[in-house]
Amino acid sequence: MEKVTINSLIRKKAEGKKFAMVTAYDFPFARIAEEAGLDVILVGDSLAMVVQGLENTLPVTMDEMVYHTRLVSRAAKKSLVVGDMPFMSYQAGLEEAVKNAGRFLKEGGAAAVKLEGGLEIAEKIRAMSRSDIPAMAHIGLTPQAIHRMGGYKVQGRDEAGRKRLMEEARAMQEAGAFALVIEAVPMDLAAEITKSLSIPTISIGAGPHCDAQVLVLHDILGLFERFQPKFAKRYANLKDEALKALSQYREEVENGIFPGEEHGFK
Ligand code: KIV
Repeated sequence: MEKVTINSLIRKKAEGKKFAMVTAYDFPFARIAEEAGLDVILVGDSLAMVVQGLENTLPVTMDEMVYHTRLVSRAAKKSLVVGDMPFMSYQAGLEEAVKNAGRFLKEGGAAAVKLEGGLEIAEKIRAMSRSDIPAMAHIGLTPQAIHRMGGYKVQGRDEAGRKRLMEEARAMQEAGAFALVIEAVPMDLAAEITKSLSIPTISIGAGPHCDAQVLVLHDILGLFERFQPKFAKRYANLKDEALKALSQYREEVENGIFPGEEHGFK
């Protein structure tokens, strides 16, 4: 795989080539994701739920996100690494937003950041672009706004919601975002947004007409059990595999089968 850059992703859209993004939070899985040819690895704040075992994404901190981004960047030499800005790392002010975004590049080794929101994040994306920090925007269902939205709900189902999402998408591109994640939005609206933009759209529950797709690693691999979003597809069941391996290890120790002669020294 060639080294993926912001420009190569934008070129893919122009050439009508689709690409895939996946989340990863540590060295071994980032290595596998890169080996599997994933163009983009997102160190998502979903780590709060799938790695830290928290109820939602709100509590994860900047320091924790930067730490995990560093682990992923160490493994991913070709895939584009994007650090996800956690709740309250960019909401309170422009200067704080740019400084925190910069930490993902400077300390985490990422090539870009992602932030959630609508029109209110346009000025932050603009300020990041001015500081040479490429930003990916995320609209539609934005999990950091779970309390305002009243839960994880599909967005843009009524006329006003559709109009607002179209406006937000255009504003993100104008502000300098290099890509746009669209989460849990009707497929026809995501298709309309995709057609109207020159930057790639990345769907998570927004249907097949976007330029790219993203899924959470633990959903793909069957490692997150609390719930399965309708839009996620499970491609493997690593939980069962791990359970089998660990149970066998325990049984072998208890029954004196492991370690064998071959695992000892003479
Ligand atoms: O945090 C995350 O994993 C995300 C993706 C699901 C887009 O934001």
